Amino acid sequence: MDLIIAANWKMHKTNAETVQFCSVIRQFEDDFRGVEVLICPPFTALSAAESALKGSSIRLGAQNMHWEAQGARTGEISASMLLELRVGYVIIGHSERRHLMGEDDNQVRNKIGTALENGLKPILCVGETEKEREQGATEEVIKKQLSGALEGHAPQDLYNLVVAYEPVWAIGTGKAASAEDADSAAQLIRNFFRDKFDAGAADSLRIQYGGSVKAENIDSFVGLSSVQGALVGGASLEVNTFSSLIQAARKAV
Ligand code: 13P
Repeated sequence: MDLIIAANWKMHKTNAETVQFCSVIRQFEDDFRGVEVLICPPFTALSAAESALKGSSIRLGAQNMHWEAQGARTGEISASMLLELRVGYVIIGHSERRHLMGEDDNQVRNKIGTALENGLKPILCVGETEKEREQGATEEVIKKQLSGALEGHAPQDLYNLVVAYEPVWAIGTGKAASAEDADSAAQLIRNFFRDKFDAGAADSLRIQYGGSVKAENIDSFVGLSSVQGALVGGASLEVNTFSSLIQAARKAV
């Protein structure tokens, strides 16, 4: 299974900065073989990224979307708007949306459903806060987020899903999870799929680790048989840093 490494730029980069990044990263493409590389710019830069990546194997993702097809939803973006820009993936339920914007499991479930129905591959983010971890609630939180997001889906619907384990305390803190913690969360996620869906859905699931990933520690995550990639924030913003991270990941598998 190819690794999937995604750059989540969050609220960073103008169109001009996006074009600059994309025109440089394409030059490294030959060094990325065996890794599916994904750039998730802000909505405003998707079109610029799409043009700048034309003909390249680097794919595009969005950071969010609404579940309705259209309507009175000021500030929201629909699946068809993303598809028009040749967006293939969409991050759903990122902890910053859950904790800063109040996104709940119902909304996450609706978004996952709409993404799958429209042929967009969702990257579903799950992960516990520091407090939940201290309370020993990590497993419970991850299972609750998975059930909340995936209830009612048939196993065959989920073959295009990616799950990112992103412990909230590791995001942007420089304090990445240990390989042991990432491994046990990834195994928990895969076992959930085996129990609630079927072996096919569990075996084909790609699981990413996210939270303070950088070129110097990516090997400890993608070296695990339970983890197939990473969702990268800060270390994806500078093109040489991100490219080194991808190359370090390739060497580790
Ligand atoms: P950092 O890599 O900056 O910790 O962010 C992780 C993240 O939230 C990716 O979605």
